[in-house]
Amino acid sequence: MKASKRVWVTGAGGLIGNYVVQTAPTGYSPIGLTRQDLDLLDQSVVENRFRAENPDAIIHCAAISSNPFCQEHPQLAQRTNVETTQILSSFAESIPFVFISSDLVFDGKKGAYVESDSPNPLSKYGETKAEAEMHVMKNSRHTIIRTSLNGGKSPTRNRGFNEHLQQTIRAGKKMTLFTDEYRSPISAKETARALWEILNQNLTGILHLAGAERLSRFNIGRLLADHWQEGRDQILAGSLNDYKGPPRAADTSLCCEKLQTNLSFPLPRFSQWLQGNPTAPF
Ligand SMILES: NC(=O)c1ccc[n+]([C@@H]2O[C@H](COP(=O)([O-])OP(=O)(O)OC[C@H]3O[C@@H](n4cnc5c(N)ncnc54)[C@H](OP(=O)(O)O)[C@@H]3O)[C@@H](O)[C@H]2O)c1
Repeated sequence: MKASKRVWVTGAGGLIGNYVVQTAPTGYSPIGLTRQDLDLLDQSVVENRFRAENPDAIIHCAAISSNPFCQEHPQLAQRTNVETTQILSSFAESIPFVFISSDLVFDGKKGAYVESDSPNPLSKYGETKAEAEMHVMKNSRHTIIRTSLNGGKSPTRNRGFNEHLQQTIRAGKKMTLFTDEYRSPISAKETARALWEILNQNLTGILHLAGAERLSRFNIGRLLADHWQEGRDQILAGSLNDYKGPPRAADTSLCCEKLQTNLSFPLPRFSQWLQGNPTAPF
């Protein structure tokens, strides 16, 4: 019998990494790495473990994924999001390496971004992702996946956009969401499913992986409230025009046609996905 492929999944304690570990198809043995298992900032420990385990591939989900946290801690964001990616991709020189990047590499002035559009990040988080992409791109065996807002049930219950919103609603608070800021939301479970297909087909280069529906933050919130049947009135409509704070990208919706042609399933429209998954943790 053919041995299954051993795949390092970093960020396994996070939203997407956890789904990736849980949804591994036949033929793959994921090795989920949480921060407790392996601190990626400790380069010599990472190298020793990599040499000892000699994985067949890496799906790199670990990052500081909070945009505001990156803005407040730029050096840590740089080390975690750029340097660890660079180091891991160099260890993975001769094996598939799938790096999870973000729609926030774009400035949001265009929308429906395709893979060949030029990054122009507005935030430190986006900058770290764009810089990490440049390192990963150097190896033609490697893959860059830009995804959008992912939702689901994270191990810590505080990583998905749905989890933040639900906590706010259940605390009886109100949340203002922009009617003029657009993303392409997707369930992290669907993201994980696509990631395994990407690895299995050895797709390389840059690919966009997101939901097939462009939605405003406000509409995303309202869809979720309707799904939960609670909190509709606690979601207030706001506009980027009235917002004062670090720059925000208005429309980072992603066009995923390039990836879609290679997938066995359609990337879902978020509203339809919710209807089809009434018991999903959204
Ligand atoms: N979720 C989204 O909407 C979204 C959208 C676009 C792109 N992405 C990207 O997709 C990837 C996965 O996102 P996610 O939502 O799953 O993020 P997440 O829930 O925050 O998970 C990231 C994980 O990385 C871990 N990590 C951070 N620093 C580490 C270190 N030094 N060593 C080991 N592990 C470390 C974190 O550990 P701690 O929990 O201990 O901090 C966390 O468990 C990230 O690259 C993110 O930037 C996510």
